[in-house]
Amino acid sequence: MKVAVLGYGTVGVGVYEMLVSAKGLECGPVLVRPGKEDKAFKVSSLDAITSDPEVGAVAEVMGGIEPAFSYACQVIKAGKHFVTSNKALVAAKGVELNRLARENKVAFLFSAACGGAVPFLHNLALARESDEILSLGGILNGTTNYMLDAMQRLGLDYGDVLADAQRLGYAEADPTADVSGMDALRKIMLADAVAYGKLPKDGLLNEGIESITAADVAHFQSRGYTCRLLVSGGKNSDGSVCAYVEPVLFRSGAPECSVLENYNMAKYEGKNSGRIVLMGQGAGRYPTASAVLRDLSGILRGERYMFEEDCEEAAANNAEIQHCYYVRLPAAFASSVPSESAETSGEVCRLISKALSVKEMHALAKELREKGAKVFFAAIGE
Ligand code: HSE
Repeated sequence: MKVAVLGYGTVGVGVYEMLVSAKGLECGPVLVRPGKEDKAFKVSSLDAITSDPEVGAVAEVMGGIEPAFSYACQVIKAGKHFVTSNKALVAAKGVELNRLARENKVAFLFSAACGGAVPFLHNLALARESDEILSLGGILNGTTNYMLDAMQRLGLDYGDVLADAQRLGYAEADPTADVSGMDALRKIMLADAVAYGKLPKDGLLNEGIESITAADVAHFQSRGYTCRLLVSGGKNSDGSVCAYVEPVLFRSGAPECSVLENYNMAKYEGKNSGRIVLMGQGAGRYPTASAVLRDLSGILRGERYMFEEDCEEAAANNAEIQHCYYVRLPAAFASSVPSESAETSGEVCRLISKALSVKEMHALAKELREKGAKVFFAAIGE
């Protein structure tokens, strides 16, 4: 099957290189911006791809919602299978693209959009057929994991580790999506949609690592904790899904502490299977490209969809799950958070909250920040 590629950035180059030697697949044209057609295989018009009868599948690795969405619709309507690594696209337009692909009888697969090389969505799609998935989530952002790991093990500063993550090709073009937790949130939206047929849109909560300081990291370390950015999904007792991202503190020895550098750790709990954990590189050229190739090879074996036919958009409900939280805030605001214990040093207070729902803690932090308080919070892990 001849494969055209949309985009020739970090992942696009990897996909193209891997296609050269892939079994059953061959390289087709690569869409680049006008003026960048410096090689015969590069084209700048989508028509050159949609009108080429030899192209059987298109891999979109450009990122962003537009023009990726318009291109996806044109490719699918032209009868080409569509594979993407673009989580922003699938989180925003996945239900629509699933419907369009089914109408046009072409594949719509996006394994690379969640977990990089880690085959998380594929395994969820298999598990939902034979088991009830109770919860899912994990460490699904390579950039922030790389940053938190380097801050802890190498004692580096936030700005330096972010620059390194960008240089290594882990971060998004605009790394705000990574450090704010938005990138991880989009991934859990996809995982919820694969597992439960509900793509959560409203009520989502994301707390990233933008507020963390080297002093916070040193404080956790001195008390035997490691901080990771964790994303959580799952089904609530009322049938709704939860979807949120927040830093979590794990005691040494927890499996999350051994997730280093750009690695991801995806997990789910099946009612009968129990907990399943998958680890691997979640970001970077070849790990991500390998997932795109996995989908393309899957098409050769007859794989077509990750979302079920009736997958729909839904609201997230993050009021059910509760945690105790570590909260660092100005001492003057400490009484705003119901606490189990608190340590004040000068103008800074570090406290452990009473059990609060995820929704309550995120709302409390928002309220405090609106009053001008600098706040960092992290859930205390199991
Ligand atoms: N920026 C993303 C990450 C890339 O760091 O995980 C892979 O999705």
